[in-house]
Amino acid sequence: MARITLKNVNKIYPSRFGEVHAVKDFNLDVADGEFVALLGPSGCGKTSTLRMIVGLEQITSGDISFDGRRVNDLEPRERNVAMAFETYALYPNFTIAENLGFPLEVRGLDEPTRKKKIDRIAQIMRLEQILDQKPPSLSGGEQQRVSLGRALIRDPDVFILDEVMSHLDANLKFQMLLDLKVLHRELGRTMIYVTHDQMEALALADRVAVMDHALLQQAGTRNELYRTPANVFVADFIGEPPTNFFEMSIKTNGSALQLSNSDGSLTLSPPASHHTMLTERAAMNGMAKDVIAAIRPQHLSLANGIGSTSSTGSASGSADSASGSADSASSTGSNPTITAQVQINEYLGERSILTLKNGGQAFRALVPPDTATRKGETVALTYDPENLMLFDKDTKQLIA
Ligand SMILES: Nc1ncnc2c1ncn2[C@@H]1O[C@H](COP(=O)(O)OP(=O)(O)OP(=O)(O)O)[C@@H](O)[C@H]1O
Ligand SMILES: [Mg+2]
Repeated sequence: MARITLKNVNKIYPSRFGEVHAVKDFNLDVADGEFVALLGPSGCGKTSTLRMIVGLEQITSGDISFDGRRVNDLEPRERNVAMAFETYALYPNFTIAENLGFPLEVRGLDEPTRKKKIDRIAQIMRLEQILDQKPPSLSGGEQQRVSLGRALIRDPDVFILDEVMSHLDANLKFQMLLDLKVLHRELGRTMIYVTHDQMEALALADRVAVMDHALLQQAGTRNELYRTPANVFVADFIGEPPTNFFEMSIKTNGSALQLSNSDGSLTLSPPASHHTMLTERAAMNGMAKDVIAAIRPQHLSLANGIGSTSSTGSASGSADSASGSADSASSTGSNPTITAQVQINEYLGERSILTLKNGGQAFRALVPPDTATRKGETVALTYDPENLMLFDKDTKQLIA
């Protein structure tokens, strides 16, 4: 078992075309038995980080330790870390049992011990029925399970997986997600899982570490990343459909406080919990007044009845709140609204995505699937101000 600590870790690759700074001042603590996903776009430095943990890549500066013991200069074999990659790299002429047992044979374990361990791993990875077959006759999902099983059979302290699902189809991926979750629960090993797919990361991990441009942007639970993203990048990267962003300025009128776009055609009501801080920023000069407001499509809903074909009676009532060009100062019940014109109504089965426009500002809302709206129709969307996220326009960091 192992707790992994990365302290100010840097990776710089020398290159003929100048240095590549692939990992910058990376700090992360992975608890013993924790399942952490490393998530980020292609080229952000995920594999480089993993390879330094495993010992396949020299650490340019900084320290990596396992249970407080510095491992920078240890060989991969001395770290007891297993790594599985996207490619299975199985031996095609060996049976599944022989493939699984290979790492044990290399270590000189005797036949009965090998058999016992193979049976145990085959049981965990649901490979018992196919132990006598050879890799070419297996499905992609089965081959991937053999590959994971072979990495696990050495009983590593740390298990590292790099994009192991990226070439599996949706059904197999779903099955593998379940397998990995069970595996983690059964083995209780520290696991680090690398992916650029937020769905995989959020489904699997206790915590997700989000990387971009060689930097760790935020490490947190699903809820932390979703509710309090550290910066605009995380708010944009986590969530589907993507978060809506609005460039706004803080406007005060006596004790009233609003966020307004440059020509005043769109206003938003900030969370009450932020009023004091925003009032202070408004009193300052320059950039402090400028913020990026963000709201997730899930947190915008059509004002009562508008666009709904349901006959439950909700269509009556406050539908008139969408009429005219009333802006966000108007409200439905206690929540403020934004008015906008419908551009696209995309039916997704369980939900529909509305693409909307208010002047030059485009944004999206996730609405019930039976929502009937016409292109160009004006609708009002309500939101709870507490769901509005605010970022500094200059630093792009969350304003807490
Ligand atoms: N051996 C190397 N020599 C030079 N540059 C490298 C080397 N390995 C990686 N890089 C560069 O370092 C950066 C980070 O690469 P890395 O493979 O860690 O990214 P990644 O997040 O795993 O990307 P992907 O999602 O595409 O696998 C990239 O710009 C890459 O081109
Ligand atoms: Mg990679």
